[in-house]
Amino acid sequence: MVWNKHEIFETRTLALTAGILVVVSIGGIVEIAPLFSIQNTIERVEGMRPYSPLELMGRNIYIREGCYTCHSQQIRTLRDEVERYGHFSLAAESMFDRPFQWGSKRTGPDLARVGGKYSDEWHVQHLIDPKSVVPTSIMPPYAFLAENPLRADDIQAHLITLRRLGVPYTDEQIENAAFDLRHQALPEGVGDWDAVLERYPRAAVGSFDGDPSRLTEMDALVAYLQVLGRLVDFTAIEPADLRQR
Ligand code: HEC
Repeated sequence: MVWNKHEIFETRTLALTAGILVVVSIGGIVEIAPLFSIQNTIERVEGMRPYSPLELMGRNIYIREGCYTCHSQQIRTLRDEVERYGHFSLAAESMFDRPFQWGSKRTGPDLARVGGKYSDEWHVQHLIDPKSVVPTSIMPPYAFLAENPLRADDIQAHLITLRRLGVPYTDEQIENAAFDLRHQALPEGVGDWDAVLERYPRAAVGSFDGDPSRLTEMDALVAYLQVLGRLVDFTAIEPADLRQR
């Protein structure tokens, strides 16, 4: 009987290794092969767009500061999460994220839908001194972000690089990268908000840190936080489109 032949594997390291590889690859193929036969692993949604230059810089600061070590951006399909944070996260929502910020370390709340939940002033105050707005907070302060000027002289190259990687920035968006970066953070009447919003619908605009005379890392980070979860219009999605495939 073939079942009595296990000694062949148990006494030969190479045979055992080969055997393990065969078994493991069967498991791999079962998981991976179906992905080739379905049309798209990302559901189609209305409203997703690439990050504006200011949001993109904010995202870079978010990653640099390691905010992801305490915050996930992935609302799971669990009932308590959906009731607390809103609609569960869709793959399409992170299609322009490189790398994505899903995460599994949830010391602080999930931030996937934090955009629009608080005012700009709240975010600035919270980042400068979390305990001043949430007395029991254990989040570290990031007051220095309000002092650091935003270094973004390479913003155009940044967009071009992302386009090479597949993010669909248009020529117009690339051409106006520096303009949009500045104007998104200027106050009403001074900044050309219409132009920014035409290129980047639903972007948060305004003097985020309250000081329009200079562009700080705080401006960029708050612009990023304020757009999280705001792009996809969930009222326009048919329930059938969201059914798990
Ligand atoms: C050591 C863990 C830790 C780190 C690192 C951290 N946070 Fe937090 N964060 C928390 C905790 C805990 C809370 C909940 C208490 C509070 O609101 O301050 C929180 C709350 C928040 C909230 C409010 C969320 C809500 O829905 O009320 C935002 C926004 C936020 N953090 C952004 C950030 C950003 C941006 C960074 C990086 C610059 C960051 N956090 C880094 C732990 C952390």
